[in-house]
Amino acid sequence: MASVPSLASTVQQHLADALSAALPEAGAADPLLRRSDRADFQANGILALAKKFKGNPRELATKVVDAIPANDLLKDIEVSGPGFLNITITDEAIVKTLAARAADARLGVPYATDAGTTVIDYAQPNVAKEMHVGHLRSAVIGAAMVEILEFTGEKVVRRHHIGDWGTQFGMLIQYLIEHPHELDHKDAATVSGEEAMSNLNRLYKASRALFDSDEEFKDRARRRVVDLQAGDEQTRAMWQRFVDESKIYFYSVFDKLDMEINDPDVVGESGYNDMLTETCRLLEESGVAVRSNGALCVFFDDVKGPDGNPVPLIVQKSDGGFGYAATDLSAIRDRVQNLGATTLLYVVDARQSLHFKMVFETARRAGWLNDDVKAVQLAFGTVLGKDGKPFKTREGETVRLEDLLDEAVERATAVVAEKKEKAGLSDEEVVENGRYVGIGAVKYADLSTSAVRDYKFDLDQMVSLNGDTSVYLQYAYARIRSILRKAGEAEPTAHPELPLAPAERALGLHLDQFGETVAEVAASYEPHKLAAYLYQLASHLTSFYDQCPVLKADTPAQVENRLFLVDLTARTLHQGMALLGIRTPERL
Ligand code: ARG
Repeated sequence: MASVPSLASTVQQHLADALSAALPEAGAADPLLRRSDRADFQANGILALAKKFKGNPRELATKVVDAIPANDLLKDIEVSGPGFLNITITDEAIVKTLAARAADARLGVPYATDAGTTVIDYAQPNVAKEMHVGHLRSAVIGAAMVEILEFTGEKVVRRHHIGDWGTQFGMLIQYLIEHPHELDHKDAATVSGEEAMSNLNRLYKASRALFDSDEEFKDRARRRVVDLQAGDEQTRAMWQRFVDESKIYFYSVFDKLDMEINDPDVVGESGYNDMLTETCRLLEESGVAVRSNGALCVFFDDVKGPDGNPVPLIVQKSDGGFGYAATDLSAIRDRVQNLGATTLLYVVDARQSLHFKMVFETARRAGWLNDDVKAVQLAFGTVLGKDGKPFKTREGETVRLEDLLDEAVERATAVVAEKKEKAGLSDEEVVENGRYVGIGAVKYADLSTSAVRDYKFDLDQMVSLNGDTSVYLQYAYARIRSILRKAGEAEPTAHPELPLAPAERALGLHLDQFGETVAEVAASYEPHKLAAYLYQLASHLTSFYDQCPVLKADTPAQVENRLFLVDLTARTLHQGMALLGIRTPERL
């Protein structure tokens, strides 16, 4: 496994060295290298440096060019405009670099030098409640970040912080104790996710109705919460049944999403119950939290309500109950002290940003977060309907996730079926690909816009063959695989001695950027930049096809070289899509 430096980074290094030779006063100055339409790269940094050190920019640029030692990487470097450098790479260097990438199973992508342990909090639905599109976003974005971080060598620990604790369980458990057969199954192994959810919904509605109409039941339900928190055995056993029933449902949705969630990683709010008292004690003893009207509170200078009064983070209520914040603070202690986290990453709705801001600040004051451990919320926006309004059914109810995924798969299957003959697909392949295309479409739509932005859930657009969609990328991949199958004797082989057409150069230089893109996305938690990279890659491939015949190229060597280029493109697409959690079928 050899990592391959990108051409951009090598050129950058040459320029930086030449720059410090030409202008030693500037120290390690950045030549500001960019991809460019005029040449392969343009360096724009010299202008500002010349101004700063009172020199003539064009003169300095010429000095820099003279200071670059002879090498076989640069074909041409010219001073242009007020002091830019336009840089052209030799065709040979491009093909050689790509050949080094192709020889590596990781496509030459290096491991991060500063890898640590990230505990990622994602895919966290709530027990006894229907999942909504927000839970889908957390799952999709979180799963992509897990893959991307692991690919860079980061150790990743997954935590699904499900909502499985709180006062509503008193009501549910009490109801079940009084109506013991309502969760009985003839054969628990055959309960579908849908049935599990409809059972829970029914129980929830029935217990809620009783709670609201019957004072005595209300009292019994409240006492049941105390029993639950005290660890009463029968109460705990009933609670466990709700959790188990909900998990049947959660897993059915994750399964539809083609996503692996492992039971040991599901550590919900209840998992921190035993730490809550100590968390409060530590905060109170250190003075980070103070009692205010009986409640244990943390105050912040910059967090105020509409009336101008400070709004505290309440760690413990005046009746002694613990809430969401106490659990999250305990989870931080666990993740840092027991799991050895160096980064805590939370993939959670932007509407919870104030909560996390206060929780992180509290943990910092308590010393649980410090210079060695950082906490980040990867906040995501709201999912909107096609009309730009919050996503609801026509009747105004939340859209059921399973219906949504089923519809995506149905539409995608219709798209795939149309090309059945042409692609030579069996009936089974139509079904399987329909699923990969449909689920891929939902994931890609979510991942291809910047997470913090709201996005419109529009199935028509998502399964469209043209434009920035997953199916466009999946077709690009399948098309290459089809060419490779038709290549017969000809093998993908790099020929550095051949001149490259402009479309080959553009494709090659973009392929070379894969590792840098992954590193950037891993560091900034912005998977949409990987989606954008892959879309551009597919677009470069489309232009390449328009201009460069592959199997009908002029010479056998050119056929091999073009097969080599498309093969590396396919492998890069496959790897990139896998990082986003999207499959790439071999035939479409
Ligand atoms: N269950 C919560 C919800 O549905 C999300 C949990 C987020 N994670 C956390 N550590 N608070 O809104």
